[in-house]
Amino acid sequence: MRVLDVDGLGPVSRIGLGTWQFGSREWGYGEEYASGAARDIVRRARELGITLFDTAEVYGLGRSERILGEALGDERADVVVATKIFPVAPFPKLVRHRLAGSARRLGLPRVPLYQIHQPNPVVPDSVPMPAMRDLLDAGRIGAVGVSNYSLDRWRAADAALGRPVISNQVQFSLAHPGPLEDLVPFAERERRVVIAYSPLAQGLLGGRYSAENRPGGVRAVNPLFGTENLRRAEPLLGTLREVAAGHGVQPAQVALAWLVAQPRVVVIPGASSVAQVEANAAAGELQLADDEVAALTGAARAFRPLSAARTLVDGVRERIDDARERLGR
Ligand SMILES: NC(=O)c1ccc[n+]([C@@H]2O[C@H](COP(=O)([O-])OP(=O)(O)OC[C@H]3O[C@@H](n4cnc5c(N)ncnc54)[C@H](OP(=O)(O)O)[C@@H]3O)[C@@H](O)[C@H]2O)c1
Repeated sequence: MRVLDVDGLGPVSRIGLGTWQFGSREWGYGEEYASGAARDIVRRARELGITLFDTAEVYGLGRSERILGEALGDERADVVVATKIFPVAPFPKLVRHRLAGSARRLGLPRVPLYQIHQPNPVVPDSVPMPAMRDLLDAGRIGAVGVSNYSLDRWRAADAALGRPVISNQVQFSLAHPGPLEDLVPFAERERRVVIAYSPLAQGLLGGRYSAENRPGGVRAVNPLFGTENLRRAEPLLGTLREVAAGHGVQPAQVALAWLVAQPRVVVIPGASSVAQVEANAAAGELQLADDEVAALTGAARAFRPLSAARTLVDGVRERIDDARERLGR
């Protein structure tokens, strides 16, 4: 497993594991997954050399943190657990209190990476960051990260913390290549980390979904799975399949390998099965040729999905057409 050296964290596996799926209703994986498969996935991830595990206090309202902490067991302290505070009222006292809740659920005296889940549109980072700095100085956390931050806001967070905010966790995949333009060059220049979330575009880049076979749950409202966007994604998926066939691997593995081919990027794919975490970990060994990376980047930049609003309107129209057809009108 390839690793990236990160200040405050040490070596981090380029392929991590996302655990929003653990105990969260919105993925629709059910109780059996939460109490069985999720633990097996974490154990297998450890065997395969994965050392970065992402969670958040809001995932399953604390269940994801609990499941992850239990599944890691005695290895909890040997890995980089990254959790997040949802910054509704991020006043210093609350930040300390919320970290204590996460640490308790994870069974960790010290949380390696503590991230602000998203920018608060009205409360500036000068409010939570002094508390984050105190937590760093007290050794309660190993590093401070942010999530869903623009480059400007990331810089403002640096200034508010008074030292570098080490990571920014953002939506980043072949279907959402935006961070290539600004966040990745910044991370490379400043030795920071971009943590790519939804690196498989929630399964779209696995190549098995279509208008006849759409995922449900939270993904039912993801515009990428709308009919028109599935059609628009075909050229990108075609390039992905072609590169995958050349290496004898799965499209999802190429999608992850493309991300880890970027400087200072690590990925945190979620997994619905042990087989998926095995495939995803193996993607950490897959080396793409420069021309393959360039072809994938070109296909990613050429993919122009419809907005969420347009997809919603199209979806309603499709349902009306379906109903009309059934009624014979
Ligand atoms: N900071 C934030 O705001 C934020 C937002 C979203 C996510 N995240 C974090 O990022 C993590 C990953 O993002 P995500 O879960 O949204 O999306 P993702 O990792 O792109 O997609 C995960 C889903 O893709 C499918 N999959 C996984 N491996 C596969 C493989 N090898 N082949 C084919 N399909 C595969 C599985 O679903 P099926 O098998 O059911 O198709 C799995 O549940 C989350 O768990 C969470 O930790 C953070």
